[in-house]
Amino acid sequence: MTATRGILYGIGVGPGDPELLTLKALRVLEQVPYVYAAASTKNDYSLALNIVRHHIKKAEVQPLFFPMTNDPQVLAASWDNNARTVLAVLETGQDAAFITIGDPLTYSTYGYLLKTIKKLNPDIEARTIPGITSYNAAAALANIPLTEGEESFYLVSGARGGDRLKEALAASDNIVMLKTYRYFDKIYETLENLELLDCTTCIVRCGLPEETVVHDLRSLKDQKMPYLSLLIIKKQGRRS
Ligand SMILES: C[S@@+](CC[C@H](N)C(=O)[O-])C[C@H]1O[C@@H](n2cnc3c(N)ncnc32)[C@H](O)[C@@H]1O
Repeated sequence: MTATRGILYGIGVGPGDPELLTLKALRVLEQVPYVYAAASTKNDYSLALNIVRHHIKKAEVQPLFFPMTNDPQVLAASWDNNARTVLAVLETGQDAAFITIGDPLTYSTYGYLLKTIKKLNPDIEARTIPGITSYNAAAALANIPLTEGEESFYLVSGARGGDRLKEALAASDNIVMLKTYRYFDKIYETLENLELLDCTTCIVRCGLPEETVVHDLRSLKDQKMPYLSLLIIKKQGRRS
C-alpha cells in the first residue's frame, strides 16, 4: 500500500489588489494547513501575505528563506533545503500551499520549488493555481492594450539592464519589462538611445494604495525605481 501524500498547491495571489485573487485560490487558502512564501525579497513575502492575510483561516504560515546570491551552488543548496521543508509536510499526508505574487509560473520562485520537490519525490501531486500577472493588471490600470490584431508580445527581464531590449524590439511589436528596479538607469539610457521614451509607460506598485502610471518617462530620469515597477513598451507608440 502506498502512503497518502499531501498535494502541493502553487498559488498566484495577483499583483497587489486583494480583489484580484481567484475564487479557486481563496478556497484552497481557506483549507490548507500550511502556507509558505519565499522570503528572498522582503517585498514578495510581505506583499503576498498581505494580499491573502484575511483568507487564511487555519494555516500555519512560514517563510522560506532564499539567499540573495547568483552562486549556483549556494542557490541549489537553498532550493534543496526549502524543498525538503515542504516535502516533509507533504509526506505526512498534509497539503501545503506556496503563495507567490502575480502568477506562480511567471518569473517566480515557485517554478524552482516545484522542480526540486518533483525531483526529490516524483510522486508528489502538484496543482498550480494561476494568478493575474503584474503586467496584465498594469495594462488594465493604464488602459493600454498589450496586443492587437496580428501584433506580437515579448516578456523580458530587466534584471541585467537594457541590452535585452534590443533583441526584444527586433522580435516583437510590444514588450513588457519586469524587474526594472536595479538597473533602471541603464534601461532608461537604452530606451532613450532607441528613441522609445515616448512609446513607454511605467507602472509602479500596481494594485496598491500608492499605485502610479507614469506616461512621461523623462520625469523618471535619474530616479531610483521601486521593486514593484514595470515597463510597457509599444513599438508603434502608445494609443491609450
Ligand atoms: C519576481 S517578478 C514576479 C512576477 C510575478 N510572478 C507576475 O506574475 O507578475 C517581480 C517583478 O514583477 C513586477 N511586479 C510584481 N508586482 C508588481 C506590482 N504590483 N506593480 C508593478 N510591478 C510589479 C516588478 O517588475 C517586479 O520587479
